[in-house]
Amino acid sequence: MFETLPHPKPDAILAQMAPFKVDTRPDKMNLGVGVYMNDKGETIILDSVKEAERRLLEQETTKTYVGLAGDVAYNEAMKEIVFGDAAPAGRVYGLQAPGGSGSLRVLAELMARMRPNAKVWVSTPTWPNHYALLKTGNIEIAEYPYFDPETCSVDFDAMTAKLRTLGSDDVVILHGCCHNPTGANLSPAQWDEVAEIAVETGFLPFFDIAYQGFGDGLEEDAYGVRKFASTVKEMLVAVSCSKNFGIYRDRVGCAFVMGGTEETATLANENIQNIARGMYSMPPDHGASVVRIIWQDPELRQQWMDELKTMCTRMTSLRNLLAESFRKQGGGDRFDFVAVHRGMFSLLGLTPEQVDKLRQDHAIYMIGDSRVNIAGMQEQNIDRFVAAVLEVTQG
Ligand SMILES: Cc1ncc(COP(=O)(O)O)c(C=O)c1O
Repeated sequence: MFETLPHPKPDAILAQMAPFKVDTRPDKMNLGVGVYMNDKGETIILDSVKEAERRLLEQETTKTYVGLAGDVAYNEAMKEIVFGDAAPAGRVYGLQAPGGSGSLRVLAELMARMRPNAKVWVSTPTWPNHYALLKTGNIEIAEYPYFDPETCSVDFDAMTAKLRTLGSDDVVILHGCCHNPTGANLSPAQWDEVAEIAVETGFLPFFDIAYQGFGDGLEEDAYGVRKFASTVKEMLVAVSCSKNFGIYRDRVGCAFVMGGTEETATLANENIQNIARGMYSMPPDHGASVVRIIWQDPELRQQWMDELKTMCTRMTSLRNLLAESFRKQGGGDRFDFVAVHRGMFSLLGLTPEQVDKLRQDHAIYMIGDSRVNIAGMQEQNIDRFVAAVLEVTQG
């Protein structure tokens, strides 16, 4: 029977990992993969995580199931991290879920239960896996304008013009911060405006926040989610701890529902637990316990926040060096946007042919749409990278 199966389309992000591995050129650069790397190109385990794991090993007394909602203390910790003081009392429930992806999937199923014919709007472009994770039942996926490839910044007028046409059968996916793949983000004033549009039109905001702390800081990056939490009645929020805690393979995330009243919030909470039961039953717990232990201990929390800041500062400083190098090497101000973008990624606005040429002639690997992972660079190879980009774009 298996012969009847179609060959799935290869994942653009995962597909470029294999050729990089077998490339023997010593100066090859991997800017494709979406994980944080330090200045040695390593994805290390944070010291705060190692310490929390040590404590967990000592303290853990059982491996029994954690329950459908997961660990309530973990969900509370996540609520504090993401919502701060902005969560309306009794109206927000969290569900420990397998990564940001698992959270997105649970909430997509909830959306399909509430609005079987909903239209889900994603930004152009968006993280490609959104299409697979959000597609369920009759749900239609549509795109709202977001990125202006001319300026490499948000086309806010086009975005808001589209959002103003939506209504209560529409669900809008909003990247909470550090937009993937573009790196172009909304300012606080722009978040305020989008929140007003949500109130006026009644569309359901569905946040995906996977890089909190990688942009301008833990608090600053939560501005959008918190603004919406204090402005709209209902919303969904999918959170990933993969990046900011560096626990990618432990699969740690949280799916939040915010209801208009305590009763409807409770109803939504019952439903996400029921959805999880039919999908994977109970969530994995190791990574979630690590996050809880870190957040509950003031010293460990501080250590984690310092480590997060180090990662964030490294990316911002690489961005500044990149923009400077482009100017120094004759690229003018065309690439200044790299210093304005935030998070791990930037979309450089190169053609697929230019991306191919970078791989073939310079052993520089990025995603076909010209998304680069800034954390994949090292200070000492910035000038080489910039020279290569200028060669393929000007030559
Ligand atoms: C925008 C966005 N959302 C969600 C995720 C999900 O992350 P994970 O499932 O690994 O926690 C990612 C990961 O790359 C992402 O980039």
